[in-house]
Amino acid sequence: MTNMRQATTAQIRRFEPDLGWFFRTPEGIHGLGHETRVLIWSQILSSMVREENMGVDSDVVGWVAAFHDTQRWNDGIDAGHGTRAADWILERPSWLSSSIPIEEVAYVCRWHVPGDEEAPAMTPELKVFKDADALDRWRIDDHDPAYLRTNATKKMLDARYSLWEATHGFVHVDEMFEQILIVALSQGILVSD
Ligand SMILES: [Fe+2]
Ligand SMILES: [Fe+2]
Repeated sequence: MTNMRQATTAQIRRFEPDLGWFFRTPEGIHGLGHETRVLIWSQILSSMVREENMGVDSDVVGWVAAFHDTQRWNDGIDAGHGTRAADWILERPSWLSSSIPIEEVAYVCRWHVPGDEEAPAMTPELKVFKDADALDRWRIDDHDPAYLRTNATKKMLDARYSLWEATHGFVHVDEMFEQILIVALSQGILVSD
């Protein structure tokens, strides 16, 4: 994994999504598998963008990865799902430690859906999260690196394909999170601790 940093399994486990959070189902293209892969990319990107002089709160983007698509009503554009996720977490402040800026978590959830130009501000956390989310687009071959917001993400295009290829067919949600971590370990994307 040249040019790519690794995250640890313990770091990823801090943000493990709960199956009960999903409004519809933790299965499917915006389910637990997607959120777990985006979570992994969010933590690696948060570390890598420091080389681009971007300071990113990795806790914020980790929690956004865990929450951002849980309130979908369907697998289409579903333009309201970011706003619903933001409002849903703001109604549950006890879920996050007091050291986590819940307003920032909600902000990135809210604005991860529309185009960059619509967001009031493209904060470092919103840029990194949108790139992490883009690395797991279901039509992965449609991906156009020209639209990425950080240089670090462009170094991860091969790794994201190998992780997606090896894990997108997983169907058993009870084991899915750990199975994806095992694959990421075997591919050198994560290290254990
Ligand atoms: Fe989304
Ligand atoms: Fe997503």
